[in-house]
Amino acid sequence: MPNSTEQTSQYPTIHKSVAPGTANMQDYDLLYNNFNWASFGESTLNLPRANGVNKASICLDDHPPAVMQRTALLWQATNGDKETYTFEELKRKTNQFANVLKDLGVQKGDRVFVYLERIPEIFITLFGALKVGAVVGPLFSAFGPEAIKDRLEDSGAVLVITSPDLKDRLDSVLPELPAIRHVILVDRQQEYGHPLKTHEVRYETAMQNASEAFEVPYTDPDDYSIIHYTSGTTGKPKGAVHRHAAVIAQAATAKYILDLQPEKDIYWCTADPGWVTGTSYGMFGPWALGATLLVYEGPFNAESWYQLIQDYKVTVWYTAPTAIRMLMKAGEDVAAQYNFSSLRHLCSVGEPLNPEAVVWGQKVFGHVFHDTWWQTETGAMHICNYPCMPVKPGSMGKPFPGVVAGILDDAFNPLPAGEEGHLAIRPDAPSIFRSYWGKEEMYNSKFKNSWYITGDRARMDADGYYWFIGRADDVINTAGHLVGPFEVESALIEHPAVAEAGVIGKPDAERLEIVKAFISLKKGFEPSPQLEQEIKNFVRTRLAAHAYPREIEFLSGLPKTRSGKIMRRLLKARELGLPEGDTSTLED
Ligand code: PRX
Repeated sequence: MPNSTEQTSQYPTIHKSVAPGTANMQDYDLLYNNFNWASFGESTLNLPRANGVNKASICLDDHPPAVMQRTALLWQATNGDKETYTFEELKRKTNQFANVLKDLGVQKGDRVFVYLERIPEIFITLFGALKVGAVVGPLFSAFGPEAIKDRLEDSGAVLVITSPDLKDRLDSVLPELPAIRHVILVDRQQEYGHPLKTHEVRYETAMQNASEAFEVPYTDPDDYSIIHYTSGTTGKPKGAVHRHAAVIAQAATAKYILDLQPEKDIYWCTADPGWVTGTSYGMFGPWALGATLLVYEGPFNAESWYQLIQDYKVTVWYTAPTAIRMLMKAGEDVAAQYNFSSLRHLCSVGEPLNPEAVVWGQKVFGHVFHDTWWQTETGAMHICNYPCMPVKPGSMGKPFPGVVAGILDDAFNPLPAGEEGHLAIRPDAPSIFRSYWGKEEMYNSKFKNSWYITGDRARMDADGYYWFIGRADDVINTAGHLVGPFEVESALIEHPAVAEAGVIGKPDAERLEIVKAFISLKKGFEPSPQLEQEIKNFVRTRLAAHAYPREIEFLSGLPKTRSGKIMRRLLKARELGLPEGDTSTLED
């Protein structure tokens, strides 16, 4: 992991001036000392409402009439097709979909998963499900059968919404998922040629027959709303569960960190809705404020991204360090061909943002990138840079108003400024996760001395700025996606040639880390480039494209403890040429 601390001296603090009235936050300390989550919910979101605190209602149903006529979603397909939806249109369509689910017997608390490409129906089905009180789970469209099976099984999902292109992957694991009662097929191009089975429902037909009127039932602020699977060091990914009240934190941070000013902004969040950034800031926060979102179906490509910013006159842009590094690599001459004068505020999340990327933003777009730190578990941004606050390139910034952060020693007591330790958060924000689905003990283990222990290591400087050091565990961060080594190892050992596998994150200039696997083969198999490629493809198609090992090294045996546990720490130390540390538990 890069140690950003060392790089500070090369990059002086960037002081900014914010003209009075231009940014939502004018003075960080003033807001920090006066902020209160409940008051924000009351004053800005008019909470609680007659039907309680339902995220979907807050985002789509109850804006003033002028806002209901505003564009909520600007969508561009990979092939260039465009669609536009107002808040009013999304209200009606999500009502219809809520009626579809109700007719299928979906009850409050049921888990409903959305497994779709980045198309408008992701939003319609996800918000429709929230309206009936279901707990929704987004599934990244690049997931393979193994990855979706783990999540659907763990959560006991009853219904999945998918598309013709993704349906085969779902069908291949459906026999192992008896809890699933229905599959809804979104068939935009009417390309699905097979007759539907009894548990299958065509989205388009069901929507045609559904009423546009739906009364959202009373929703308690603590009712579960969304479940995001996230990787840890041990075991399969766990489902971090958030409640409806999380929208208060998502809206407050969208207002003061993204600085959204809905009357004038076109806001683009490049994250996929399969990840927490794509829901907290690709849906909830911005829509709770009534802001216009741009969504692009296609993959990353410097030219098409630049074209989108120019064509849609994007004003606020939330993206990720890997994407910024890829844009930097594409070169300034590419960027110079586009007009970025609409941009006014840039933010980044998911990995440490290199200081050179911060200042590159200023050079190419006329604005620095503002780093934001948070996690699936925190549900909303927690440590950030703000339009009104000087930026120290390489620093994650300061805690959001309403958030108390700390750096703790190994006994979980606060350390003074300047010392490195565990990054911890007081679990006060309404967006902090409420559970790992079905894993109460693991959830409780994350809290010590009234702190939530994030799993990251960091330090705070004398000015109160936080600096990321690295993960405290084996979790790999590849291009902003967390990958659990155990998940990849489990997929690897299912390959017929693999006897044992140990997986680590190997530092990488573009992706921060790549997944590297050490493999010992079963008797009768010999290492070869063909076998290596076959194993890579095996994991890629079963798990996910971002999680497969880009590098494989064959070893005759893996270092293990006497109890048989593979010592990833040792594999990593050897890979990086670092001291091997304590090897007393290593088997002979
Ligand atoms: O290690 C930190 C890293 O990503 C982790 C959270 O990943 P996830 O739950 O997938 O959520 C990602 C998007 C919210 C953190 O524990 N991380 C996230 N943002 C930053 C970061 N590391 C350094 N700097 C950041 N700004």
